[in-house]
Amino acid sequence: MFYLRHLSLKNFRNYLRLELDLPRGITVIQGRNAQGKTNLLEAITYLATSKSLRALSDAEVVHWLAMEREPIPFAEVGGEVQYDGEVNHLRIVLTQQGGRGSGSGFRKVVTINGVRKRALDLMGLLPVVLFLPEDIDLVAGPPSGRRRYLNIVLCQMDREYCRHLDAYNKVVTRRNAQLRALQGRPFDENLIAFWDDALVEHGAYIIHKRQEVIAHLDIRAREQHRLLAGHEGRLRVEYRPSVDLSERGNVAPQEQLALKLPAQPVAYHPQPVLPESQIRKRFADLLTKVRAREVEAGVTLIGPHRDDMVFLLDGRDLRTYGSRGQQRTTALALKLAEVQVLEEALGASPVLLLDDVMSELDEERREQVLHVVAAVPQAILTTTDWADFSPDFLAVANCLQVEGGVIHPAYTLSR
Ligand SMILES: Nc1ncnc2c1ncn2[C@@H]1O[C@H](COP(=O)(O)OP(=O)(O)OP(=O)(O)O)[C@@H](O)[C@H]1O
Ligand SMILES: [Mg+2]
Repeated sequence: MFYLRHLSLKNFRNYLRLELDLPRGITVIQGRNAQGKTNLLEAITYLATSKSLRALSDAEVVHWLAMEREPIPFAEVGGEVQYDGEVNHLRIVLTQQGGRGSGSGFRKVVTINGVRKRALDLMGLLPVVLFLPEDIDLVAGPPSGRRRYLNIVLCQMDREYCRHLDAYNKVVTRRNAQLRALQGRPFDENLIAFWDDALVEHGAYIIHKRQEVIAHLDIRAREQHRLLAGHEGRLRVEYRPSVDLSERGNVAPQEQLALKLPAQPVAYHPQPVLPESQIRKRFADLLTKVRAREVEAGVTLIGPHRDDMVFLLDGRDLRTYGSRGQQRTTALALKLAEVQVLEEALGASPVLLLDDVMSELDEERREQVLHVVAAVPQAILTTTDWADFSPDFLAVANCLQVEGGVIHPAYTLSR
């Protein structure tokens, strides 16, 4: 099991300095608006994935005062993660190149147990599942958010995925440049063949893994959704790959990899997962078909960078037909499902981070969330109002209060 036992921050968002010990089990952090609740969960996620969930640039997470006063502005996030008997010390340091006022970008240095590593190496050392109020956008928002979501889940499960994704994105950029260079010229197959091969190689891996994880999330999210709001209908999460995989006439059913999953309480069939070789072939075939259009457009028109997934309630698309409440419940079901999917993939439960989730939920939904919270080895919840939780729940939780980027025990809490 993974457990973050210490977090240390320097100049991260509104935390100038923070040294925080965290216990196993449940921690509740209360604070008024704009005190640093989301920032704290962002910092933990940053340590886990080396990416900010909302910052557009690295500079954004560096404390304003550090930007104004430090000769070399920097921010630091460090943590001690216990996993079985072992402790890993993770650290990310951002420093402004050229110092204050240079206007230059930030350099990110990752160390694990004091040894310099790549950002990629952090993946899987502190698996987290984070739920933010704006995660309703996963259901209601644009496809880019859903691709980002899938990438974060998969990268935490599989470093190979992360490597392929990185390579794939680079190939798309270069291939687009090549496509533009071909415009208005007699077409030469050789000039694009190299990029096609690379696109298909990395892309097929990504598609295959996305198929697998969505099939898995589908089953788990349906279960969670049933527990949260069973009367509203049955949830289905489906992959909408940009590379059309539906024409699989030449794949014998037994070749489709059966998902190794426990018995299902719902009678929905697991979604098929095609072998990677099949996806590769299909992707390559389709590329030749869209070639002329791609040259004309100067961009890569098909591939995982254009993927999407949909959420259906009794077959109806929640993006179009769902109420805000239904969309929120679905996003929450997806996140709770993610806890299980990660746990099954990693053999250990991730740390669950819930940002102000209770206030929006009715009694029944709160109970189901707390049920999951109680089952994971470590959960950190934020709230503006202690009354979101029962006294019994708070009695067994580690209760903290945050004010202006300073965290202290919630002594004043009357229980
Ligand atoms: N780089 C930064 N340096 C200093 N302060 C920052 C920086 N980025 C954001 N802040 C400030 O951090 C404060 C706390 O933000 P945070 O989003 O964590 O609040 P919160 O406690 O989650 O509030 P809410 O209940 O409204 O969600 C805000 O006042 C914001 O202006
Ligand atoms: Mg917040």
